[in-house]
Amino acid sequence: MRYPYGMTDQPLPSIFELTPLNDAYRADPHVILDDLRARCPAHKDAVSGSVLLSRYADVRATVNDLGLWRDPIRAEEGALLQRGLVQGVDPSLPRSSTTSILMLDDPDHARVRQPLAQALYARVARCRAQVIDIVDAALDGLEVGARFDLMDRFCVPIPIDVIASILGVDHDRLVEFRQWSEDVIQSLNPFRGEAETAAMTSSGEALNAYFTAQLAERRINPRDDLLTDMVRLQAEGADLSEDELRINLTALLVGGNLTTTDLIGNGVRLLLTHPEELAKLRAEPGLVNAVVEEVLRYEPPVDITGRLASGPMEVAGCPLTAGQSLMLMLRAANRDPAVFEDPHRFDVSRAKKPHVAFGGGAHICIGAPLARLEAQVALVRLFDRFPTLHLAEPEAEPQWRRLPFFRGLERLDVSA
Ligand code: HEM
Repeated sequence: MRYPYGMTDQPLPSIFELTPLNDAYRADPHVILDDLRARCPAHKDAVSGSVLLSRYADVRATVNDLGLWRDPIRAEEGALLQRGLVQGVDPSLPRSSTTSILMLDDPDHARVRQPLAQALYARVARCRAQVIDIVDAALDGLEVGARFDLMDRFCVPIPIDVIASILGVDHDRLVEFRQWSEDVIQSLNPFRGEAETAAMTSSGEALNAYFTAQLAERRINPRDDLLTDMVRLQAEGADLSEDELRINLTALLVGGNLTTTDLIGNGVRLLLTHPEELAKLRAEPGLVNAVVEEVLRYEPPVDITGRLASGPMEVAGCPLTAGQSLMLMLRAANRDPAVFEDPHRFDVSRAKKPHVAFGGGAHICIGAPLARLEAQVALVRLFDRFPTLHLAEPEAEPQWRRLPFFRGLERLDVSA
């Protein structure tokens, strides 16, 4: 049961209690996040060495602040999570050849992101038919009247197949490519074991070799795909090294697969558990944009993003010096009652207000248009094809994954 704001004498949670490794957080993160936002909206967490921001206004202003830093190499010694990300990094190498745009600062960030975004956005604007084909192929594999795990059969394969087809991965390499993608996603898991680390490393090397060979091949035989777009932009003068291309192509994989899988899975589960909202979508399929935005607000796949203070400043009354880490609690901001009326109600017809599920400012998610398109197509076509789709065990607790900083389902058992 939710306790009212400020009515607790519990100590403030550390960052680890704000991950699904904490059973209470996994079951309902908002009991803890509501309390944190109300009691201490700028909480200096000793465990991570970061200031945790949980109010919408502070999160929004911070992601939009173009003067802040992102690169963890600039974090102060006490910013433990950030420093952990750059442990063992060779300081003589240019940052842009060892890390993707996610962690870069300007001028490298703008230099690398601009051509990548130009090519990706142009492809996404033209890929609706491809996405429909991929979603329909996944639906063709599901049997009417059967019970199955929708994550495994629908939500997981779609984003990998979509990004593979945008990049231009050959069909005969798709199985390998899928495996490499699954393995490199472990780079998002700070608590991975030895076996996962080994698979991540060898699949990362395989992807690197694959992209090297494919980029060389596209220079000789251009095709209609993103790899060709990137080598063409390079040939036309875009200042991009081979390392930068490979790292950022891999970032499209890592950044886009699990997150979009979770957006689709969370969306299906929310609609199945809120039949009145599903009925609105069935009556008016054009509502799907609003549905996906409400899923992103209510149950965003990503918990946090980060920035670093670039000099003396103050956020929510908290004084900061250069290199201090700010963790932006996107999930908490999206349910801030100061901005969203009745924030814990899933309501696809609520007044339009921008959520922060994709972050913001210079680092705003480059894959947002693609994730939105995939989720919109997947939800409309799934409920259209299976009008009686329902949870196989409506009374069972949802099985949330334990991967820190993400919220998605381990499995979603449904009957079609
Ligand atoms: C629902 C799905 C997704 C969610 C919730 C999500 C969330 C995020 C968030 C929160 C950020 C950090 C933004 C910031 O710091 O302000 C981000 C950045 C990024 N995302 Fe996504 N993402 C999703 C899908 C995708 C897809 C489909 C791709 C690739 C095709 C992708 C690739 C990236 C990349 C490369 C960045 C780094 C951008 C930069 O720092 O300039 N994401 N995403």
